[in-house]
Amino acid sequence: MHHVSSSLLAIASLVTFARSSLGLAIPDTAPTDTYTSTQPGTGYIEDPRGWKFSGGMLTVPRSRIAATSVGQLAFFAGGLLENGTYTDTVDIYNKQTNKWSVAHLSSGRSSIGAGSIAGRYAIFAGGLDDSFKPMSIVDVFDAETSKWSTIDLRTPRGSPQIINLGSTTAIVGGLSGDLQYLSNAVDYVDAGLDITNATLQLRYPQFGVAISDKAGGVGLFTAGYQNNDPGNRFNDFEASNQTTVFSITSNSSASFVSDQKFPYPRWGAGGAAANGVFAVGGGHVFGDTSTGSQTTVVDRVDIYSAATGQWSGRPLELSVPRDYPLVQAVGDYIVFVSGTDQSKDFDILDTRSGAFVDNLNHKPALYTLRSDAAATTIDNCMFIVAGGLVYQGRNATASVEMFNACK
Ligand SMILES: *[C@@H]1O[C@H](CO)[C@@H](O)[C@H](O)[C@H]1NC(C)=O
Ligand SMILES: *[C@@H]1O[C@H](CO)[C@@H](O)[C@H](O)[C@H]1NC(C)=O
Ligand SMILES: *[C@@H]1O[C@H](CO)[C@@H](O)[C@H](O)[C@H]1NC(C)=O
Ligand SMILES: *[C@@H]1O[C@H](CO)[C@@H](O)[C@H](O)[C@H]1NC(C)=O
Ligand SMILES: *[C@@H]1O[C@H](CO)[C@@H](O)[C@H](O)[C@H]1NC(C)=O
Repeated sequence: MHHVSSSLLAIASLVTFARSSLGLAIPDTAPTDTYTSTQPGTGYIEDPRGWKFSGGMLTVPRSRIAATSVGQLAFFAGGLLENGTYTDTVDIYNKQTNKWSVAHLSSGRSSIGAGSIAGRYAIFAGGLDDSFKPMSIVDVFDAETSKWSTIDLRTPRGSPQIINLGSTTAIVGGLSGDLQYLSNAVDYVDAGLDITNATLQLRYPQFGVAISDKAGGVGLFTAGYQNNDPGNRFNDFEASNQTTVFSITSNSSASFVSDQKFPYPRWGAGGAAANGVFAVGGGHVFGDTSTGSQTTVVDRVDIYSAATGQWSGRPLELSVPRDYPLVQAVGDYIVFVSGTDQSKDFDILDTRSGAFVDNLNHKPALYTLRSDAAATTIDNCMFIVAGGLVYQGRNATASVEMFNACK
């Protein structure tokens, strides 16, 4: 067990998936139209060296952005401005028209969880207000009507994790009560925006990595850190080996089991899934205190297979250790980039061969070194990195880098 200062904890919490924003919403009644399925993907360029680069700019430089995509749209919501306040700005990129537009969230907050529901809704869930109080508000954008509305989580939370299971999306865990507490709450939101809730069956409340394979209707909540003293102040901070597997049952309700153990407990890892292959890479472990190092960043990648329901006994390695990496699925690939080492290079895992693509020629790679940036992928083929911190964390950037693998 390790005792950590609450400021370290606050930083760990906020940096993890803490994406932030504030907002001025345009509350509307929740749409009730029936769900129409997503467009089939456009396919992608097989050789990552052929992915086309283009740049863009957010309306305001910032970090800790809540990013997600739905249909042909990518959303970069909220974020921490250089003057220390959180913005309500949502920059929206439309891949079909190659144009940007701007919207606003409904309420001022940090630590928003971003994701999507049923190929139709982009959601910006929960958050913390100025006094770190968890919030229940969820801003919802309907890609079919282009209207914003709000719904409420059953349990208010900051930095909830989002698992898109296709027809249903699970909003999992987060920070509750105050920064000292971790939540075990799950809210399921279906294609009609109806919410049902459940409680994670965890031995210890956990703040972990959430990964979706929405095509397969399977999700994973794993790694991160846990509170070994449930119900009490969160001072005992330990890397977690708990893994919860979410799946859609035949009657399309969601369920979960938590019997698989994450093989190499750590926090600050990132993950994504394609073809039923879930990859969790990078992160921190406690360092060797005898040498004075508090934490060590790792290059390890663990693989979970939806087909076997098991973690692989053979971990892979990133080209550099990365903490809080940006991780996205692009076609059959899983792309890792950014992190402490601030390597500009991509590590690209081919889920068909189970091996990393050899990209010794440094292509594709980021143009601007950055940390604490946001990433999302449109249509499974356009990988976008936005904002973050540059000049070794001194300045926020508005720069957007787009890697277009779409055929
Ligand atoms: C921070 O910057 C934003 C954008 O420039 C501005 O609207 C806001 O008033 C500033 N807040 C403070 C407290 O300076
Ligand atoms: C649903 O959420 C409410 C409010 O947080 C809670 O009291 C209740 O126990 C939850 N139900 C389940 C099944 O977790
Ligand atoms: C998981 O971690 C707990 C401590 O949090 C430990 O007691 C348990 O043995 C671990 N389980 C496995 C399978 O490693
Ligand atoms: C759907 O299936 C789950 C698990 O099989 C079950 O617990 C649940 O009651 C079912 N729901 C309905 C509406 O039939
Ligand atoms: C970085 O931010 C500082 C303080 O906000 C500012 O003075 C400086 O000009 C910025 N540097 C660049 C290169 O934008």
